[in-house]
Amino acid sequence: MSIKDLKSIKKEIQESLESAKKAADLNNIFKKYLGKKGKVSLILRNLSSLPKEERTLVAKEANRAKDLLTREIDDRLKEISDKEILLAERGEWLDVTLPGKKPEIGHIHPLTENLNKCIDIFEKMGFSLVYGPELEDEWHNFDALNFPPDHPAREMQDTLFIKQEKRESLSSKKRLLMRTHTSPVQVRYMLKNKPPFKIIVPGRVFRNEATDASHEVNFYQIEGLMVGKNISVANFKAVVEEFYNSFYEKEIKVRLRPSFFPFTEPSFEVDMQCTICNGKGCSVCSQTGWLEIMGAGMVHPNVLENSGIDSSKWQGFAFGMGDRIAMMRHKINDVRLFYSGDLRFLNQF
Ligand code: DAH
Repeated sequence: MSIKDLKSIKKEIQESLESAKKAADLNNIFKKYLGKKGKVSLILRNLSSLPKEERTLVAKEANRAKDLLTREIDDRLKEISDKEILLAERGEWLDVTLPGKKPEIGHIHPLTENLNKCIDIFEKMGFSLVYGPELEDEWHNFDALNFPPDHPAREMQDTLFIKQEKRESLSSKKRLLMRTHTSPVQVRYMLKNKPPFKIIVPGRVFRNEATDASHEVNFYQIEGLMVGKNISVANFKAVVEEFYNSFYEKEIKVRLRPSFFPFTEPSFEVDMQCTICNGKGCSVCSQTGWLEIMGAGMVHPNVLENSGIDSSKWQGFAFGMGDRIAMMRHKINDVRLFYSGDLRFLNQF
């Protein structure tokens, strides 16, 4: 190893330092010259084998090369990492003037909002809010409400029965089903409370039927019941008129048509004047000017008796309405939209 060799190594180092671009390149250079088997390290380790006169010179030059290399590599490494940080910062540049991302905030479902509105109106009229089970028994859902044993509503096609072992041998109080209406809660309430009372029962009900624009397998109903002394159809009419006026926030004409329900006598279907055409006749009301909006009637004496109330002393009216009132209010022509979970629909409310 001569001074000449050392000079050419120094040149080599200089060149490779110049072409080094990444931290990895610099690390490789360090290893090549100053690593355990690095060229400069070997020179320094083998100084003793050199003739004396040459040794000092070579030692001096080799140490210079070592210093240069260490310093240069340190500087370049710092430079590269500074550059990398700068680049990263530029890539992650934050524009604080950009509008923020809106968090997705949910809102009340239109049917819930609708129920809440109904509840508010009835509570202002003095009705109490009552709830009942969705999983019901056949006695409360049918028998107590004066449905004859062969009534078609009890058929498998209309009612969702719960599979039970030896179902046939169970009493109707043990035979379970998904309630088909909120009316069984009338019975549950009357069995536990003494008249007079006024209640409403909102809740989900279930039907085993094909769905279409006006039918769903489950939907919401609001049941009403008022029992007292000398309660008449006139009281009922006043209550529903008041309710619809408040609910639709305008004067709504209401008419009663004779109908039939096992649990009321007399029974009627309640029509309200079509809010779309104001009674003139349109496609929504099939040109009649009226829309069927709830079932109602005077509570059948058998229902009062089945519920432990003396029908010779007490009487009352009951009514039940479904999602139709919400459809009318929001001008929705397909009930299934409410249950679709489709945000394009829901976000309009
Ligand atoms: N339960 C009936 C139905 O689901 C609605 C109804 C009609 C309820 C007359 C009543 C009533 O309380 O008196 O179709």
